[in-house]
Amino acid sequence: MSAPASRGRFIAFEGGEGAGKTTQSRLLADALERLGIAALTTREPGGTPGAEALRGLLLDPELDWGARAEALLFAAARSDHVEKLIEPALAAGQWVICDRFLDSSRAYQGGAGGVDDDDVLALHAIGSGGLLPDLTILIDLAPAESAKRAKIRDGNASDRIGAKDEAYHAAVRERFELIATDAANRFVRIDGSGDPGDVHARIMQAIVPLVEEA
Ligand code: TYD
Repeated sequence: MSAPASRGRFIAFEGGEGAGKTTQSRLLADALERLGIAALTTREPGGTPGAEALRGLLLDPELDWGARAEALLFAAARSDHVEKLIEPALAAGQWVICDRFLDSSRAYQGGAGGVDDDDVLALHAIGSGGLLPDLTILIDLAPAESAKRAKIRDGNASDRIGAKDEAYHAAVRERFELIATDAANRFVRIDGSGDPGDVHARIMQAIVPLVEEA
């Protein structure tokens, strides 16, 4: 009988709109594969059929969710994602790279939406057993640059949350900073300016310890 696979590592990307999380998730997964590490990329809200269905509801510009309802729905989507995709992959020894996770709920629904951080964490405890990433990569980008990139990407078709006003997105950024400072043991901050190759190089430097201990 072969030995059970050692548990994979869980890496989350966080940051505001247009910060480059999706591009960087893919570049990181490719780089890990080249190092012989099997890596799965996924995203939130989404990643499983049920969570993708909730994503459609959450981001629909025709709907008008309040921050508390959003927090519940994001937690429900996350619960399905963790149970059906993330935990099984980690248990099988795969590394999981997730484009947004819990800290997005803490920054958007909490920091910008006004839901108490303890309540967001309580929903996460109920839904997902409190699972935390081994490493959270916060890509920071100045608001003007981030708005410019999001505009190029989305034109006038940004989703319901992306379309919220400047003050909302400033509060998101501020809360991400606070969370990263508070949980410095599982966060790295990465400067998101420059071209994708530059940002990727900064990320590779930051994940050396995780790769070395694997
Ligand atoms: P995403 O598609 O990653 O947007 P972007 O590519 O612009 O970063 O995420 C969709 C939106 O959902 C984004 O505006 C952030 C928001 N969101 C929350 O408000 N709370 C959450 O818990 C998550 C995961 C995302």
